[in-house]
Parts: sequence; C-alpha cells; structure tokens
Amino acid sequence: MKIDILTLFPDMFNGFITESIIKRAIENKHVEVNFINFRDYTNDPHGKVDDTPYGGGAGMVLACQPIFDCVKAIRTAESKVILLTPSGVPYKQKMAYDLSKEKHLIIICGHYEGFDDRIETLADYLISIGDYVLTGGEVPAMVLADSIIRLIPGVINESSHLNDSFNENYLLDYPTFTKPAEYEGLKVPEVLISGDHQKINEWRYQESVKRTKERRPDLLK
Ligand code: ADE
Repeated sequence: MKIDILTLFPDMFNGFITESIIKRAIENKHVEVNFINFRDYTNDPHGKVDDTPYGGGAGMVLACQPIFDCVKAIRTAESKVILLTPSGVPYKQKMAYDLSKEKHLIIICGHYEGFDDRIETLADYLISIGDYVLTGGEVPAMVLADSIIRLIPGVINESSHLNDSFNENYLLDYPTFTKPAEYEGLKVPEVLISGDHQKINEWRYQESVKRTKERRPDLLK
C-alpha cells in the first residue's frame, strides 16, 4: 500500500515514521508513506496557499488551487482520497479495515480556519476522528495511518488484532494482566492462572460484555 499525506507541516510526522511498528512496516515494505507539501503546488508567487473567506469571518481559508493541482498530479484510478475535517463522518474500526485493503490512499490535512468547500469534491471520504476540533489534520492523519497500517497483513501478528475492541462483535477488549500475580494487594483473577483455556475464554467473553455494558452501552445496541 502507498499512503500520500498532503500537509503543510511534514515535520510533524517525524517520530511517527521513525519509531516502532510503523517504522518496521515501512522498512519491510508493507507500506510506503510519502509527505507532500501542497505549498509546492501553489501558483502564488509568494507561496500563499490560503485566503480570506468570502462573506467575512475570522482567519484564513485553504484555497482550491494548490490542493486541486496536487491531487490531480498524484491521483490514479486506484487512489482513494480522504479529506480530514471535524465535519466528516466519525471514524470507526470498520473503516480502518476497509481502507487497509486499498492500494493507494491520499490523505489531505486541513489547517488554519478550514478549507474552501469545493475541495470536498476531490474526496472519496470525509472523515472526522472525533467530536472535538484540533489545530489541523496532521494528528488525525497519523490516527488514520496508524490504525490502517497495523491491519495490513504481515505488519503485526494477526491474532493481535482479532480480539481488538470495536471488531465486528462490537465488544470492548477483555482485561489482560502480566506478572507478578499480586501487585500492591491487587490480584490477577484466579481463572487466568488456572490453565483451563475453555474457562479462560468464557471469562474473557463475560468481562468484555461487562466492560462494554459499563463503559460503552451504545456499542451493544
Ligand atoms: N481537523 C481538525 N479537527 C479534526 C477532527 N476532529 N477530525 C478530523 N480532522 C480534523
């Protein structure tokens, strides 16, 4: 898979691609991640990419031309274009699964006070990572890229994500523990030390249901 991230601030992604699982996924050629500064595509002699909003209002708005030209230059028949915006559809694990099967993703990070609405016409998906407003699309782009890359076959052990929260069963993950069996008076549940795998699986399922009821009853509907 190839992921092209369109951003004015490529340096924000430095640690993202140079550490841990994402770094390894890139090294092992499971994914290619490129950062494209759409300022390089502006026709403005001073490098401007934004302008004041029609109708008035605070701040500057990303203009069509640099982003349109950038997307037109890199898009192919296999590309899916994602525009990150707090006005998008809420991002879910199911979307991460679907997107992890694509060949080429183009992720556009908005910034400043927003973007010219006509930029939406370039997008196959308008995505929000949650009901809060961030300073730009860079952190959301990392959220998307991370959640998608870990699902590409071979990136992590598949059994590591079969039990993920928010899979098709809509249950939160069960609790896990490691050594020691008791820490500051807090004990690991007996069943996990029993070696009885059928009992352990039943216990894990019950705990998942209990957690989901307590913390995310909305998932059980
Ligand atoms: N840009 C700013 N806030 C955002 C959000 N919540 N989701 C996606 N893009 C954003």
